Amino acid sequence: NMSRARWVVGNWKMNGSIAANEALLAAVRELPRIGANVGVCAPYVYLPQAVQALDKSAVVVGAQDLSAHAASGAFTGEVSGAMLAEVGVRQVIVGHSERRQYHGETDEIVAAKALAALGAGLVPIVCVGETLVERDADQAFEVVNRQLGAVMAALGERINEVLVAYEPVWAIGTGRTASPEQAQEVHASIRAKLGSAGAVVPVLYGGSVKASNASSIFAMSDVDGGLIGGASLVAGDFAAIVAAL
Ligand code: G3P
Repeated sequence: NMSRARWVVGNWKMNGSIAANEALLAAVRELPRIGANVGVCAPYVYLPQAVQALDKSAVVVGAQDLSAHAASGAFTGEVSGAMLAEVGVRQVIVGHSERRQYHGETDEIVAAKALAALGAGLVPIVCVGETLVERDADQAFEVVNRQLGAVMAALGERINEVLVAYEPVWAIGTGRTASPEQAQEVHASIRAKLGSAGAVVPVLYGGSVKASNASSIFAMSDVDGGLIGGASLVAGDFAAIVAAL
């Protein structure tokens, strides 16, 4: 669908080093083309390096999280959206399942973070997705609707400014990808839930996307690209995934 932007975004998670990033970023610089937007979400400390290495390229630099607190203050260890924007970050992941699982982030916290991101002029990449237990209990649609609904309630009409990423938890880092049909049916329900914003909000798929399966997933009508973990760390694999978009 040409009315929605198409994206491949790398989520490096807690990986990288100054030397490794340098080589990877030099390769990633060259990847964007018309109809294929590219983003890279690096760990906080490497964001200035990424911004500098991608200067005058079309690649957008993103962070992997931000504080729900808009104003600066006594929040040890937190990084605000304003700080990210100041160093040249333009998008930020919120609600990744690893934040929900390991850091106790609730739907309400995720919604507050999405709102804080918009307030700082950043594009939130809102992650939603069910666990294996929830899928097996036939609750996938319900869970995704609830997670997205919390963000929609907080953002109101500004929901049309976000990117959504559907990341089934059972497919993350497991090598077990959702089938294109499994992805499509959840993406279609996300788009329906988004209402009129569904016409413009890109919905990306995430979870064991590789060079070998990217094109079949990206071919689905409601899949507008991917959020890539492990394969975004290997220049050739990431390039092949962008080429599949
Ligand atoms: O945010 C991306 C993600 O969680 C998928 O990770 O390693 O399965 O591609 P991976």
